[in-house]
Amino acid sequence: MSFRRLYPEQPESFAFTPENLAWAKEKIALYPKGREAAAVIPLLWRAQEQNGGWTTEPMIRYVADMLGMKHIRVLEIATFYTMFQLAPVGGKAHIQVCGTTPCMLRGAEELIKVCKRKIARKAHELSENGDFSWEEVECLGACANAPMIQIDEKVYEDLTPEQLKAIIDDIAAGREPETGPQNGRHSSEPLGGATTLTDESLYNRGSDAEKLIKAAKSGKATGGKSAGGKAASGKTGGARGEKKAGVAKKAKGAGMKPAAGKAGAARVKPVTLADLDKVEEKAPDLKKKRPANPDDLKMISGIGPKIEGILHDLGVWTFAQIASWGAAEIKWVDARLKFKGRIVREDWVNQADALAAGGRDEYVKRFGKEPR
Ligand code: FES
Repeated sequence: MSFRRLYPEQPESFAFTPENLAWAKEKIALYPKGREAAAVIPLLWRAQEQNGGWTTEPMIRYVADMLGMKHIRVLEIATFYTMFQLAPVGGKAHIQVCGTTPCMLRGAEELIKVCKRKIARKAHELSENGDFSWEEVECLGACANAPMIQIDEKVYEDLTPEQLKAIIDDIAAGREPETGPQNGRHSSEPLGGATTLTDESLYNRGSDAEKLIKAAKSGKATGGKSAGGKAASGKTGGARGEKKAGVAKKAKGAGMKPAAGKAGAARVKPVTLADLDKVEEKAPDLKKKRPANPDDLKMISGIGPKIEGILHDLGVWTFAQIASWGAAEIKWVDARLKFKGRIVREDWVNQADALAAGGRDEYVKRFGKEPR
């Protein structure tokens, strides 16, 4: 790893957009008084996103001042973590190739050669058209799926050089390549299938997603059994009317209420992971049939083609459906996606609310960046 220094050419200033500023204040308020500095990484990350993917010196000062931190402390953070880019990056993707031992032994050097050929000879240089850049980084924590790369928050694992070339071509053409393992594995299980715990009855107590999806489709979904063992009483099949775009909605579960917002730009008070622990899961509004004009759920950051397919199987097709979820409904969907907490962490509900209310423009207004 080379020294990480600030880029020699810096802009004059940095300031959050009004939407990002409101978001930052909410984040800071999550921490006790005197401990606001704990919000430094999310704030710096949001600032980097707003700035086209790289962190600047005025941004470091701005975030430090917001959190009452010394500038040098935020500079230390920005220069330590490779998630912060200290120079302009490719407009479509900045590729981080893990070059640490497990990835190196499994072919990371060949992936780096692909980057050199297809993007630029040197790390941190922009491709000729400015769309791509790359760098080698230390372990990204997916060693069991070596070799791998990361682009923003997405990882592509078990990669061959040919697959990396195809991923770059897909992104260049505006397509969204499938994330995760590229060799057919679901996560890091043995490639040839399980060799232990092959008897499902030992651990599968009848709560697998397929059965629940079937039940939901047949209209018998009752929310399954919660962790506490008590059956929830959700409805399916559009028992509740679907909400129209732009209309403030009733928040459900855990006493969630819509936060005050401008007309036509309803915002939902984000559900927290702690809220999920307080409620019984409840089936959300599900559609038995594909509607004539389903939304592109992949515009929500965190939903890729794979997750979108699962949501469709469950009966979720529109932004309005997702925007209507409260804590109880999120818990129900979360359990079926088997991505505990992801819906909350990625704030699908507010993303969907913005997209339902005003599409791409409303999303940019609220989040200060383009949807996917
Ligand atoms: S060594 Fe590459 S992800 Fe850990």
